[in-house]
Amino acid sequence: MRRVTRRRPAEKRPKVVSLVGARPQFIKLAPLAPVLGKKFRHVIVHSGQHYDFDLSGTFFAQLRIPAADVNLGVGSGDHGRQTGRIIERFERFLATAKADLVLVYGDTNTTLAGALAAAKKSIPVAHVEAGLRSFKITMPEEINRRVTDHLSQLLFYPTKTARDNLRREGIDRGLVYSGDVMYELLDACLSGAKGKITRRKKFGLETGQYYLVTLHRAENADHPERLNKFLQILRLLNYPTLFLVHPRTEKNLRRFHLWESLKAIPELTILPPQSYLDTLFLLSECRAVLTDSGGLQKEAFFLGRPCLTMRAETEWVETVKAGANFLVDLSPEKVRRILASRPRPRVRRNYKIAGRKPSEIIGRAIASYLDGR
Ligand code: UD1
Repeated sequence: MRRVTRRRPAEKRPKVVSLVGARPQFIKLAPLAPVLGKKFRHVIVHSGQHYDFDLSGTFFAQLRIPAADVNLGVGSGDHGRQTGRIIERFERFLATAKADLVLVYGDTNTTLAGALAAAKKSIPVAHVEAGLRSFKITMPEEINRRVTDHLSQLLFYPTKTARDNLRREGIDRGLVYSGDVMYELLDACLSGAKGKITRRKKFGLETGQYYLVTLHRAENADHPERLNKFLQILRLLNYPTLFLVHPRTEKNLRRFHLWESLKAIPELTILPPQSYLDTLFLLSECRAVLTDSGGLQKEAFFLGRPCLTMRAETEWVETVKAGANFLVDLSPEKVRRILASRPRPRVRRNYKIAGRKPSEIIGRAIASYLDGR
């Protein structure tokens, strides 16, 4: 006999609140939103950490993420101020929201603030992309992810290394091997991003004949001597180069009087941050990417494009072990050496865990956790 599973009427479904606020979080929310929207009363709260269209609106529009139900409008500021404002405003929201669970994503100030506010209201916290560690405690993201993991009841870890990191810290309950939601999104979007001859025309670049560059981490973008080294690296690149400049980096390059020197570099095109699909297209066709972004490191790995990471360490150690990612920090010598060796990583195709998509695994795990309460 076939079992008939009856869905609960919408108003009786548990209420799950997703708190997002920065670019990488919109990307992680995109594949999850349809799944969560079917299973739960899913409420999307935007902290307002990112507010420029290039860093926020474009992702909602292009990836068809439902508009945020609430925007806390916190904007930019020092860590304490930004984090504090999110805690205060999100706590106020939670006071009347009757949330059954709060879902936080990645490692930004929004993630930490959401986890703290929910935990103090005794609302269960679930963390997408748990267990990542750079082991560099001075990095704001490392602080955010460590605290968030210790406040979470459900920890969706993308890799086995992440699971081992959690266990080493004594976290052994609520661990769920979900795989990587970013890979799921990339896979779903790839044909759209690749198929567009118009994109090739738009950027005027030849396949495999340009470098893609981004840099935005505080440890790089906030220090004039680091930015100077970055400029040295750009000067040695021997193919046309596209630099997608984050507002934080542009602000600091101008502040430290480096903007004019940057603009004087031959064969360098400076553009604002691009949409998800345009970035994916640019990444999929580049000769190599030079970046300090965690997301781009992984996306390059999935796409089989060589990645030179302008940091001394990475959370995505698998990409380094696989010979796809090279930690060059800001050493011109290392960059020169790696590029001369012409690395050719292979494309990764499988992102499912036992045939299931990360979004399905996360949706089911939340449902069974809430059922068991
Ligand atoms: C944040 C995250 C980082 C993530 C990145 C993705 C933290 C600690 N950092 O860094 O982990 O990789 O997002 O982009 O949460 N700004 C604008 N417009 C905006 C947003 C920011 O101009 O819409 C400028 C402001 O000058 C601001 C600066 O960028 O002061 C930094 O923004 P912030 O949100 O604090 O950190 P990100 O560098 O974007």
